[in-house]
Amino acid sequence: MSGQNFNLAVIGAQWGDEGKGKIVDLLCEDFDVVARYQGGHNAGHTVKFGDKHYTLKLIPSGIFHRDKLCILGNGMVIDPQALLEEIGTLQNVGVTIEENLKISDSAHVILPYHKALDLAREEAAGDGKIGTTGRGIGPAYETKVSRYGIRVADLLDRDVLREKIEFACAEKNSVLSGVYHKETFDPAKLYESYLEYAEQLAPRITSGTVLINEQIRAGKRVMFEGAQATMLDIDHGTYPFVTSSNCTVGGICTGLGVAPKHIHRVYGVAKAYTTRVGGGAFPTELNDAHGEHLRKRGNEFGTVTGRPRRTGWLDLAVLRTAIMLNGVDAVALTKLDVLDEFDEIPVCTEYNVRGERWRTFPAFAVAHHDFKPVYRTFKGWKSPTAGVTSYDDLPPLAKDYVRFIEEETECAVGIISTGPRREETVVR
Ligand code: GDP
Ligand code: IMO
Ligand code: MG
Repeated sequence: MSGQNFNLAVIGAQWGDEGKGKIVDLLCEDFDVVARYQGGHNAGHTVKFGDKHYTLKLIPSGIFHRDKLCILGNGMVIDPQALLEEIGTLQNVGVTIEENLKISDSAHVILPYHKALDLAREEAAGDGKIGTTGRGIGPAYETKVSRYGIRVADLLDRDVLREKIEFACAEKNSVLSGVYHKETFDPAKLYESYLEYAEQLAPRITSGTVLINEQIRAGKRVMFEGAQATMLDIDHGTYPFVTSSNCTVGGICTGLGVAPKHIHRVYGVAKAYTTRVGGGAFPTELNDAHGEHLRKRGNEFGTVTGRPRRTGWLDLAVLRTAIMLNGVDAVALTKLDVLDEFDEIPVCTEYNVRGERWRTFPAFAVAHHDFKPVYRTFKGWKSPTAGVTSYDDLPPLAKDYVRFIEEETECAVGIISTGPRREETVVR
C-alpha cells in the first residue's frame, strides 16, 4: 500500500469487535490523518505491538504513530469525562497526545442523564433489553435528533451551556424520576463539572469539517476508522438490537463532513468466525462446546464491559450484506488462528427462510427468527497459523477456507490476521 495516495475507510463487517483497532493501527503508517466518524465510548478498539497493549474507546487507533493527526468527528457522541480519562491513561504510559488530537466542535456531548436513562431503560425492558454498553449512547443520539442536544462548541460558551443544561435537566429529570423512579441531576453541579471539562478540552476543539477538508485539499491521506459495525448500524443493522449511529460507509460523509468522492477504498473487517455482544438475531450462534472453544481461544470477552461475547460460525450472508452496503474493496479477515484446532469448520453460505433462499441478511428475519442457516463444512487444518506472516506459510486447508470466502462473496481478502499483534499479519 505504501506510497499510494488514497483515503481508506476501515469498517466492521459483522457485529463489532472484528479487530478494527488492530487493522487501523497496522495500516495507518501510510496515512496522515485518522478520523472517527460515529459512536462514542461504546467502542473498544485493541491495539497490540511488541509487549504493548492498549484499549481505545474514543481516540482513533492512529494515536500510537506520533505524526498522525487524529480527529473526533462531528458524528460522534463524546463523554468529556471519559475522553479526559482516556487521554490521561495514555499520556501516563508515554503516548504523545498534544496537537495530534482534535475534536470537532459539532460533535454531541454525553451528559450523566444520558447514561442514567440508558441504564434505567435497559432495566425496565427486562428480558427485552438491547444489552447496550450502558454508556448513554442511544439517549445522547436521541437528544441530538430532538435538536436539544449540547454540542462540543456549546461547552465553550458559559451562558449557552448553563441554559442548555438547565433546559435538558428539567425534561430528563422528570423522566428519570417520574417514569423510572431514579435519582435526578442537579443542573448547577453538572454545569460546574462540564465547565471544568471544557477548560481542559478547549485547546483541542476546532471546526472538524474545515480541518479534515483542509487536510484532504493539501493532499494528506486520510483513514476513516469505523466503530461498532454494519450489523449494528441504526438503519441497516438488526434493528432494534443495534447502536444509534450509522456505522456504515455513509456515516463518514455525515459524521465528518467529507464528500463521497474523497472515500477511495473501503476495507471490511471480519473475523474468520462471528461474535456479537448484547441481544438480537445471530443465525450461526453456537451454544455448545465449539462456541465455548471460540470464546476461550479467541478471548471473546467485551473490551468495554467485560461481558462474554456470543460466538458462532462465519456467516457469509452477513459478510455479503456488509460488502454490498459499504462497497467493500477488500476484506481484512482476522483471528484465523482461533480456528486452528477445529476438526471441522462449518460456514453459513445462505439462509433458508420458509423455503426461500437468502444470500444476504433479510431485515424481516430479525422479527421472525424462522430462518435456517445453510452450512458448508470445511475440514479443519489442525496446524498453527498463529503468528504466520506470509500467505505461502498458511496450511493448504486454511488457504481453501480463505479462497472459499473470496469466491462466495466475490471480494478479495487483502489482509489475514493471525494474532492480536501488529506483527502477526499476512498482507497480500
Ligand atoms: P475492534 O473493536 O474491532 O477494534 O476489536 P476489539 O479490539 O474489540 O476485539 C478484537 C480482539 O481480538 C482484541 O482482543 C484483539 O487484540 C484481538 N485480535 C485482533 N486480531 C486478532 C487475530 O488475528 N488473532 C487473535 N487471536 N486475536 C486478534
Ligand atoms: P467496537 O467499536 C461490539 C453493541 C452493544 C449492544 C448494542 C447497543 O468495539 O466494535 P450501545 O451501547 O451502542 O447503545 O449498544 O451495540 N455494541 C458493540 N458491540 N462492539 C462494539 O464496538 C459495540 N458498541 C456497541 O453490545 O448490543
Ligand atoms: Mg471492540
